Amino acid sequence: MSLLKRQIKTEVKKMRRLEDEKNISTSQPLNLSSSVFDITSPYIPRLARIERITRLTEKERLFTIAIEDGKALGHQPGQFIMLSIPGFGEAPISVSSPPDNGNMFELCVRAVGNLTNALHNLSKGDRIWIRGPYGKGFPVESLKGKDLLFISGGIGLVPMRSLIKTVLSERLSYGRANLLYGVKAPDEILFRDELSQWERTGTINIQITIDKPHPAWKGHTGVVTTLLPPLKIDETKTVAIVVGPPVMYKYVIMSLGDKRIAGHDIYLSLERRMKCGLGKCGHCQINSVYVCQEGPVFRLSDIRYLREAI
Ligand SMILES: Cc1cc2nc3c(=O)[nH]c(=O)nc-3n(C[C@H](O)[C@H](O)[C@H](O)COP(=O)(O)OP(=O)(O)OC[C@H]3O[C@@H](n4cnc5c(N)ncnc54)[C@H](O)[C@@H]3O)c2cc1C
Ligand code: FES
Repeated sequence: MSLLKRQIKTEVKKMRRLEDEKNISTSQPLNLSSSVFDITSPYIPRLARIERITRLTEKERLFTIAIEDGKALGHQPGQFIMLSIPGFGEAPISVSSPPDNGNMFELCVRAVGNLTNALHNLSKGDRIWIRGPYGKGFPVESLKGKDLLFISGGIGLVPMRSLIKTVLSERLSYGRANLLYGVKAPDEILFRDELSQWERTGTINIQITIDKPHPAWKGHTGVVTTLLPPLKIDETKTVAIVVGPPVMYKYVIMSLGDKRIAGHDIYLSLERRMKCGLGKCGHCQINSVYVCQEGPVFRLSDIRYLREAI
């Protein structure tokens, strides 16, 4: 077992002991309803429980989370929460499930550092803390009646899944839908079963590409922009939604320009390092724009002037 894994296991044990001592990890949620705490404050974390963990790939897991106070998260597709585990820190994570009224929601998390590795070491029934939802998501209402072109790279499919599932739940309100999804290698494809299911129903046209040839892959090879030229779209009624690693945006935007899609018909979600998540600390700032508050979803025409944005 690696040193990091051992450290995480020790810290998780410590955390559970601490929780037991303070009696916060029992079936009784913390009583935050006293006058000391304003339970409706967006600053106060809420206790949540891991209901299910599904392994999607070697690095990504899907966590089904239930909020202990029983209230709905109340998010919109594209919004994020701040997830924390005492002793490991806090990080922004997109909500991957569509909005619904229950107190459950889904997060797909890649293990990359302190917090995310600690989360991967937790088990069903363990507690985490969440704040949010924060930020501006996708403009679901104004997408109605439009043809939708979803372009996603790697883990960018995580927030996009929330929007796609929302669109599919009201499929007749939207025009044609295409999803172009690029990953580095076949074993990095997320939500495989759902992608196949969506494709089988014929409600969304899906094309997947991997960056380089791979013996286990018989499909398209090349970066995600190579899927665009042959694609037939009506530029007068197509809106493109782009979520992926920062390096992808510049090339996708150029390819969408070749397809004559205007900047006001392109939405993208920006990823910046965040601390507070609600416009106070300035960590996510690009010039005068707070990504956590005014984004993470932006219309391209609104941020084109921001040199560092893309
Ligand atoms: C709006 C938003 C939504 C997101 N949604 C998701 C999601 O749905 N799923 C998901 O898995 N991730 C998501 N992320 C990314 C996630 O928040 C980060 O990967 C986060 O840093 C993980 O925290 P950590 O403590 O595990 O890793 P960290 O310890 O923060 O390390 C993460 C990586 O960043 C590097 N790093 C650490 N500190 C710095 C620094 N100061 N400057 C530069 N690099 C540094 C580390 O070396 C490591 O490679 C999202 C980010 C944003 C902004
Ligand atoms: S993360 Fe603090 S202002 Fe955006």
